[in-house]
Amino acid sequence: MSEGRIAVVTGAARGIGRTIGDCLVATGYTVIGVDVSDQLAETDFDPVQADLTTDGGLDAVSERVDTIDGNLHLLVNNAGITRDARLVNMARDEFTAVLEVNLGAVFRLSTRLRDDIVTGGSIVNMASRAYLGNFGQFNYSMSKGGVVGLTRAMALELAPRVRVNAIAPGLIATEMSMGIPDDIRGKMVDAIPMGRMGEPDEIADTVLFLAGAGYITGHVIVVDGGRSLSR
Ligand SMILES: NC(=O)c1ccc[n+]([C@@H]2O[C@H](COP(=O)([O-])OP(=O)(O)OC[C@H]3O[C@@H](n4cnc5c(N)ncnc54)[C@H](O)[C@@H]3O)[C@@H](O)[C@H]2O)c1
Repeated sequence: MSEGRIAVVTGAARGIGRTIGDCLVATGYTVIGVDVSDQLAETDFDPVQADLTTDGGLDAVSERVDTIDGNLHLLVNNAGITRDARLVNMARDEFTAVLEVNLGAVFRLSTRLRDDIVTGGSIVNMASRAYLGNFGQFNYSMSKGGVVGLTRAMALELAPRVRVNAIAPGLIATEMSMGIPDDIRGKMVDAIPMGRMGEPDEIADTVLFLAGAGYITGHVIVVDGGRSLSR
């Protein structure tokens, strides 16, 4: 039971974040769902429509945390974007947009909320298996590698009070991955030993596990159906 427990989940309007939020609500958390999208209105979350790359957006989240009843136990930094391009073609705004959302917002929101998280609480950051390097995803791979470094450094700084971990999903069935052209996505699935894409609830299960795993900090759990193995 998670009576009086608050979780903040970013990117909660759809995809992995939406499923994480739903699973947390089902286990008794009150979920502050943060997203730039107005689709939050359709959820069971306490909604904060905010762009996490802006000071106003960050202010809106911390104000909600300050005023809501209960204690902040969990921050899930899940919001993320892609602007795929090979290095030679990448425009400056594609480079900075991905770093600002995927890495900058994780750093800024964690810094803002770290003192609000109760002793024994934790942060879970959404990295990606792409941090190992994905062709055509230079900016994205770089941002997710940054998330791994941030997770490990922040785990040291916040221990022993608050744990910080990351999840590195492989290909998960959401609107983001369905944006990949069918032929390319088909080849990606062929390279997955488990023979299928992952489901958002398989990532949500890992968030729930990490939230309760009191002796795991600074770790990255790869949830990729074996994609990182060599055959
Ligand atoms: N789907 C995959 O295959 C996959 C694989 C590895 C990692 N991931 C990571 O998992 C996370 C969720 O991915 P998803 O597939 O659910 O993506 P998604 O595009 O379906 O959802 C992302 C959500 O983040 C929100 N968002 C984007 N920019 C924002 C901002 N500036 N402020 C607030 N909210 C913002 C979007 O509105 C959207 O609702 C991302 O960090 C992504 O990089 C996804």
